[in-house]
Amino acid sequence: MLSLVERTGQDAESRTALLCFLEINAPERERLAGLRRFFEDIADNMMEEFYEYLLRHEQTAAFLQDPALVERLKKAQRRHFIELADCCDSEEYFEARLKVGMAHAGVGLRPEYYLGAYSSQLAYVSASASRRFADDDPTELEANLRVVTKVITLDICLATEAYIYGGYVEKSLSEAHQAAAIRAREALAEKEQEERRKEELLRMVVHDIRSPVTAIMAASRAALRRYKDPAEPPGRQFALIEESGKNVLNIIDEILNVAGQATGDMPINALPFDLAVLLQDCVAELRPYAEHTDHFVELSCPGSLPVSWLDPLLVRRVVSNLLVNAFRHTPAGCRVEIFAGPLAAATAGGQVAGSETAMTDGVLIRVADNGSGVSARVEKRIFEGEATGVLKTEGASLTTGLGLPFCRLACERLGGSIKLTRQGGLGACFVIEFPAG
Ligand code: HEM
Repeated sequence: MLSLVERTGQDAESRTALLCFLEINAPERERLAGLRRFFEDIADNMMEEFYEYLLRHEQTAAFLQDPALVERLKKAQRRHFIELADCCDSEEYFEARLKVGMAHAGVGLRPEYYLGAYSSQLAYVSASASRRFADDDPTELEANLRVVTKVITLDICLATEAYIYGGYVEKSLSEAHQAAAIRAREALAEKEQEERRKEELLRMVVHDIRSPVTAIMAASRAALRRYKDPAEPPGRQFALIEESGKNVLNIIDEILNVAGQATGDMPINALPFDLAVLLQDCVAELRPYAEHTDHFVELSCPGSLPVSWLDPLLVRRVVSNLLVNAFRHTPAGCRVEIFAGPLAAATAGGQVAGSETAMTDGVLIRVADNGSGVSARVEKRIFEGEATGVLKTEGASLTTGLGLPFCRLACERLGGSIKLTRQGGLGACFVIEFPAG
């Protein structure tokens, strides 16, 4: 292991150069040797005063809680102080002084408090020297004070070197980085926990809304049985209540599904089913809605569709979402076409503009309308989820804005994809591709 003299680069040349710079030359060294007796005489009291001073300040007192340690240090430091009289450019002298600096860096004493404490020693030595040499020639006192200041300054220089090259700086930096990393991790964990709490709360609230809405729908259904004609009041009002209730339940499902998908807990219930039949049912169920909003719906499933092994409920909800979306966002009188077919045939037959899929044996569903289409700005973000649960009102209809994000998540969860294309610049055209089961 390298000595401190080696680590700090204090070779013979540097040591001589440093003493030369501080002007601790032969006459000064001789004077120092002559001051040994003075050092020995003042050392005990100086140590007492020094440790009283260190114990008065919390930054240093924290290191000196053990009285036995303090007694040991007084002795070590007394020796160290008297050895100032031996100052020379030897490797041993420099190594010993560097070691003391290193010992303080090792216990984690901040350099400013270590170096700052020298002021107390300097003050004590100069006051003592002024008294001791009061009767001497004043130039003698001045020369003594000068040389003591220089040799203590040498200690300060070497202690600083020890702090810099002894690893204190790296250690402090790495501790600061570690502390910052811990703080960042804690902040992240706290944020995640907050998100989880919010999500949990959202789910609870949304779940709680489901029961009263279901009750309202049951009541309106019962009323509908009494007032059968949905075209005449109050049957019409009850039909509307039921329709709105369905919408609210859909919104609840969207929120729960998007929240569930985001946390990866949306179960998939894969079953074989006939896609053509599923689409027919879906269209049949939504036809009254389409009539209510004055839209035409047309379904075509040319050729035979492969038997699907997807989650029929999810597929149905995706398609329903797209249809309802089209009814909501296109003007009355528009036409909504839904097409489904084997992917390979649809791609080859040009049924799908812009299909980029690598799948060849899947199924393709296309929901297209002849409305005014989607602006480029909206198109870019159309499948992005708003923050879960943020409700926004669009015209008269209440929507979470989560319908399309839900469709994307569900399609991806089923191993497929969804995208929005334009058909010859007219309307919006959603293209879904699912793998064959
Ligand atoms: C001002 C100049 C100082 C000098 C000349 C000095 C001198 C010494 C000496 C000679 C040792 C023994 C080193 C060894 O050989 O193990 C030592 C150790 C120690 N000093 Fe100082 N000291 C000074 C300032 C301080 C200050 C401000 C504190 C703050 C509390 C302090 C706390 C300690 C401690 C805790 C040790 C033991 C280190 C260890 O366990 O290795 N010293 N000091």
